[in-house]
Parts: sequence; C-alpha cells; structure tokens
Amino acid sequence: LASVEVNISNIPVGQAVKVMWRGKPVFIRHRTEREINEAQEVALNELVDPQSDDARVEKKEWLIVVGVCTHLGCIPMGTATGETRGDFDGWYCPCHGSHYDTSGRIRKGPAPANLVVPEYEFLTDTSVKIG
Ligand code: FES
Repeated sequence: LASVEVNISNIPVGQAVKVMWRGKPVFIRHRTEREINEAQEVALNELVDPQSDDARVEKKEWLIVVGVCTHLGCIPMGTATGETRGDFDGWYCPCHGSHYDTSGRIRKGPAPANLVVPEYEFLTDTSVKIG
C-alpha cells in the first residue's frame, strides 16, 4: 500500500502506537504538554541533527516518525506502554544505545540523524493518512 489511513481517536495522551507503512514501522505519539514543551525548548545548537520541533510536526500534540533507527536500522523501544523511552523521553534503540527525544531527534548514541518524518496529512481531527 502506498499510503495508510490511521484512526487516531483511540490513542490517549501520553501513549503511542506503531502502524506499518510500506513495510516499515511508523510511530504515532500523542504527546503530553510536558513532552511538547521538552521538544520545543531545546536549543538547536544542542542537537546532533538540528531541526526545530515545529519543522517536524504538523500538529504539536501528534508526533509521527518512521520507527527505524538511523544508525543501523533497528526498531527503537518506547512505543509500547511501559517500555523504556531512553534518557530523553522519546525512544531508545537497544542495539547500540541511541536515545531520541520527544520530537524523535537523536540526542545521544551512535545514530547520525533524527528519526525520519514521513509524508502525512490529517484527513480529519481523528484520522491521518501516512504516505
Ligand atoms: Fe540503533 Fe545502532 S541500530 S543504535
């Protein structure tokens, strides 16, 4: 499938889901106020791959990223409830220890780049089309 439509109405604030798109996992996280603030407040010069949070999200409460570590392609932890989210509250790749923040940006570890933001579009307030 070139694109996939996801109903996001049942993802509570603070939780995330994984959906498959073109054979890859995509993480959709319903961010809390605190997670949004964390993502917005980081100075760009502290980032390995400097990108503002605004450039990575269409709606602040929804972060959508391809769930493939930019180091060697493992699937980071932090989507399932109770899984570790690493030192920056985003995702943690256990393969070689990369930590991503609440905007999916690489903050620590060997990964060279942020988690990729796929093309997506909100069809309604509760539905998003990825791809
Ligand atoms: Fe994720 Fe190496 S593949 S840290």
